[in-house]
Amino acid sequence: MPLYKTIIIDNDTSLAIWKVEETEEMLWDNVELSPHCQSRFNGMKSTLHRRAFLSIRHLLAQYGYTDFDLVYDDNGKPHLKDGKYISITHSHNFTGIIISSRLEVGIDIEMQRDKILRIAHKFTPFEEYRTLANTAAIIRKLTIVWGAKESLYKIYGERGLSFLQHINVQDFLFEDCSTTAEIIYNGTLSHYQIHFLEFENFTCVYAAKNRI
Ligand SMILES: CC(C)(COP(=O)(O)OP(=O)(O)OC[C@H]1O[C@@H](n2cnc3c(N)ncnc32)[C@H](O)[C@@H]1OP(=O)(O)O)[C@@H](O)C(=O)NCCC(=O)NCCS
Repeated sequence: MPLYKTIIIDNDTSLAIWKVEETEEMLWDNVELSPHCQSRFNGMKSTLHRRAFLSIRHLLAQYGYTDFDLVYDDNGKPHLKDGKYISITHSHNFTGIIISSRLEVGIDIEMQRDKILRIAHKFTPFEEYRTLANTAAIIRKLTIVWGAKESLYKIYGERGLSFLQHINVQDFLFEDCSTTAEIIYNGTLSHYQIHFLEFENFTCVYAAKNRI
């Protein structure tokens, strides 16, 4: 079973990434779904989606959890019954979870694709990217910023939050592999740490809310 990568962030927080290479049948090994998740699973048409969904349950097992330890709220946000924070992502054949006992966390994996150039203006001031060396660098950076905003959205969890208007990701160098971000929404300012890594044409971004 290909657990692809684990990152221990600190004593309370870590993440794990799975590279989905198994068949659906193999992924059922040692997995049982709650009635809620089984019903969702039954409605999934794509086998890639079903395999990704099952692989998340193997990532949960790395932390000693089963699907029965997970509940979803009305917005689809996952929570652990023991009160720890969790965030989940899947993109094509990569899936990931981040868990923290102390910090609100979010995670997002995205495939690096040209398509992001077309939607960039919807989530970031695109003119700021024109100084980058080439299109490949622009795609990399946009994918990181998009992943950061998705991760933050997963933490913040308010439907009205606009990626363009309410979330600001500070500029960064690729080699720093980290940055910070702020959300200003409904008169409230909150601060976040952002980290990112790139592998096999994918970008994984994770975020944690600063405790003040
Ligand atoms: C919910 C959302 C964040 C999911 O992100 P995604 O990139 O489509 O998909 P991912 O695979 O990374 O994440 C899916 C997981 O996010 C989690 N999730 C779903 N809704 C969530 C929410 N409201 N809050 C936190 N986490 C959520 C779930 O765990 C889900 O996986 P699961 O149901 O299999 O457990 C995204 O669809 C969304 O609504 N984004 C905000 C709105 C937006 O896109 N605005 C665009 C502005 S240009």
